[in-house]
Amino acid sequence: SKGRVVFSGIQPTGVPHLGNYLGALRQWRKLQDEAAPEDTLLYSIVDLHAITIRQDPAQLKRWKKEMLATMLAIGLDPHRSIIFYQSSVPAHSELMWILSCSASMGYLSRMTQWKSKMSLPDDASPLDTSSKAALKLGLFSYPVLQGADILVHSATHVPVGHDQSQHLEFARELSNGFNHIYGPILSQPTTILSPAKRIMSLKEPTLKMSKSHADPKSRILLTDSRDEISKKIKTALTDSITGVSYDPETRPGVSNLVEIVYHLNDGAAPSCEAIAKDCQDLSIKAFKEMVADCIDAKLSGIRERYYEILNEEGGSGLRRVADMGGMNAAASAEATMEKVRDAVGL
Ligand code: ADP
Ligand code: NA
Repeated sequence: SKGRVVFSGIQPTGVPHLGNYLGALRQWRKLQDEAAPEDTLLYSIVDLHAITIRQDPAQLKRWKKEMLATMLAIGLDPHRSIIFYQSSVPAHSELMWILSCSASMGYLSRMTQWKSKMSLPDDASPLDTSSKAALKLGLFSYPVLQGADILVHSATHVPVGHDQSQHLEFARELSNGFNHIYGPILSQPTTILSPAKRIMSLKEPTLKMSKSHADPKSRILLTDSRDEISKKIKTALTDSITGVSYDPETRPGVSNLVEIVYHLNDGAAPSCEAIAKDCQDLSIKAFKEMVADCIDAKLSGIRERYYEILNEEGGSGLRRVADMGGMNAAASAEATMEKVRDAVGL
């Protein structure tokens, strides 16, 4: 019998932060470690998604390489997981077009990320980037590409952050719509939700940690030095209440730090409440030092491997990994595409 097919992707838009790691990347590694021999794992650096926002070409190339190095540094094994650049497998774009021909505009326009853009003024010129007129087709249709990414590999399981479940629902809708017309060809992927729901911004702990926030001190990057981690945690927004306790409602800043420690300990730790109780008599300063130590202890190995990988042989090792992943991913996609083309009459 066939095993499960796991697919997930991440955009090459800079070094991942602690939220990306705890909410996504670490889960990928865990799934790889727990996979049965007959399972297939595909992890894609989704460069075609990255260009829905205008990118500097040289920087995008650099970011792709850095994301690949990060994925290896967190322990993804290219002999166990298929690690590849999305654009190296044209079948992703091909299936996207085919799915576009049956995707519902109405459904797409109800997606929250698009809807949030609908409040922009619509009377300005296309050169005014803050107007509706400047919105791009690719941004509207990228959930179709996301669906194609998953379905082209006949994925059965998709590990995603909680913010992505709506897009998974849409992928299932695309699959249903296609299968309704052409027969049972595309898979019905199920979601694997990450245990780390939302790591919050260090500066605005009611918002999620994100690369799109202006203040770089609001997030810890996987490549941050011991010193940078300490500085960022030291300046993290907390409150004026004495001691440590866990209450995300009234103490979001302190509670976020507790949750970071909890999730870094990978379920081996006691609950957030127990961690807070252990630290209840510490000053916030001492608690923050403890949090910084904990983050550094978990990230230092990743950071060292990252720089080793990136500096090795002028990147030829990374090229080999990308080539091998691209070939294996193309073979996986082709198995689905032969059936799809035949069914559609292409
Ligand atoms: P960002 O919000 O920084 O742009 P992405 O949207 O590129 O991050 O997310 C990449 C992955 O990381 C997704 O699976 C997403 O669910 C997860 N993720 C992003 N931010 C967080 C966070 N603050 N906490 C937990 N998971 C997150
Ligand atoms: Na995002």
